[in-house]
Amino acid sequence: MAGKKAWSGRFTEPTHPLVEEFNASIGFDRLLYKHDIMGSVAHAKMLGRQKIIPKKDAEAIVRGLFAVEREIDSHKFRFNASDEDIHMAVERRLKEIIGPAGGKLHTARSRNDQVATAFRLFVRDAIGEIVELIRDFQKALYKQANAHLDTIAPAYTHLQPAQPIRLAHWFLAYFEMMERDAQRFYDALARVDVMPLGSAALAGTNFPIDREWVARELGFDSISQNSMDAVADRDFAAEFLFAAALAGTHLSRLAEELVIFTSREFSVMELPDAFCTGSSIMPQKKNPDVPELMRGKTGRLNGYLVTMLTVMKGLPLAYNKDLQEDKEPVFEAFFQLTTMLKLAADMTGALRVDKAKLAARAEDGYMTAVDIADRLVIGGTPFREAHEIVGKLVKYSIAEGKKFGELSKGELKAVDARLMKINAAAITPQKSADGKDTPGGTARRRIAARLKQIEREMKKW
Ligand code: ARG
Repeated sequence: MAGKKAWSGRFTEPTHPLVEEFNASIGFDRLLYKHDIMGSVAHAKMLGRQKIIPKKDAEAIVRGLFAVEREIDSHKFRFNASDEDIHMAVERRLKEIIGPAGGKLHTARSRNDQVATAFRLFVRDAIGEIVELIRDFQKALYKQANAHLDTIAPAYTHLQPAQPIRLAHWFLAYFEMMERDAQRFYDALARVDVMPLGSAALAGTNFPIDREWVARELGFDSISQNSMDAVADRDFAAEFLFAAALAGTHLSRLAEELVIFTSREFSVMELPDAFCTGSSIMPQKKNPDVPELMRGKTGRLNGYLVTMLTVMKGLPLAYNKDLQEDKEPVFEAFFQLTTMLKLAADMTGALRVDKAKLAARAEDGYMTAVDIADRLVIGGTPFREAHEIVGKLVKYSIAEGKKFGELSKGELKAVDARLMKINAAAITPQKSADGKDTPGGTARRRIAARLKQIEREMKKW
């Protein structure tokens, strides 16, 4: 079954029947074929330019590589059981197409620098795609924020009613999280965009290669400075996975809030049917499966990061086959996160908000307590004392089943005479929100200013 291996020269005995499959990465690293071929084309051109191999061989190799690419593109390529990985598969087919000249492609390189190069090219593209999807999601958040600039809502700490906000502020909180995620991916890109090719197996090469030329050809920002580090380094993959796990964590927090806010008990938001499913037994159910799975899949994203860090720890320099385990976590994280981002954008855009119910909820729960305390402070009462007074006021109001605004002067006086000067009824949830007129606060003009700023930033995306 096994074909002749590229490395068979020093071997006398056959491999164990399970080893071929155990050792192979072709089942998943075929995803790298375009990036592998791209790297090989640049390498072959350079070998020709530097007269390391004859120009006509380099040209034949480049043509042959494009022919292989077309075969894979059109699903005509036949992967053999004995193709260990995508690098071997492409080279095998290249030799079948152009003959022995194909054997010159692997001059002055090793699979160790080859795979690191292809993988970095893949992660570079993945980051570009992810950032674009983050931007789409941010646009959906921005739109909702714009639409809900005048929607007053309760906000929570400990999931207990805390203070009134404008709902735009809540949407923009997720916008800011995703902004950091986009920045984090870009920041990681600086360390992804370094070309390891030319490190060969680990020590560099005896041939007069031109690494800078190849890097320019491949659009790399810079070249690696240490051949041992370059073939062993997967920091860029770990960073990518951390950025993915954290973005997933943000999506998961949103998902959790959507599950809560669309629940019957809260019922201040509604997800369109498109993002829900029914129950096989309970006909009345509409379950928020999409946000639930978004929350659940974040577990995997965290797992991929831990997988990568665990593979790397304890590895001696330079390349070790353990590093082949770097790819699946990255591929999987990429697929999961891109789908999650697409759904998050569409779901956010389609989210229905019950403004009246939110406004009514913002009237409940004594959420203007801080505002009353602050007014006492303005009147000269130390904050700690004011806190105590309003605490008593809340206790009294709960016992009487009254809102602050419904208390008589006499009742206020009985709690504390200093409360009589405060017109609690006038502190509406909206007034409360607009009182938070500090940078980053939920006052209307602060949010409106941030929205304007975001509009300017979005033009640069
Ligand atoms: N499939 C391998 C990987 O993904 C390619 C590098 C193999 N290098 C080696 N020396 N066996 O890591």
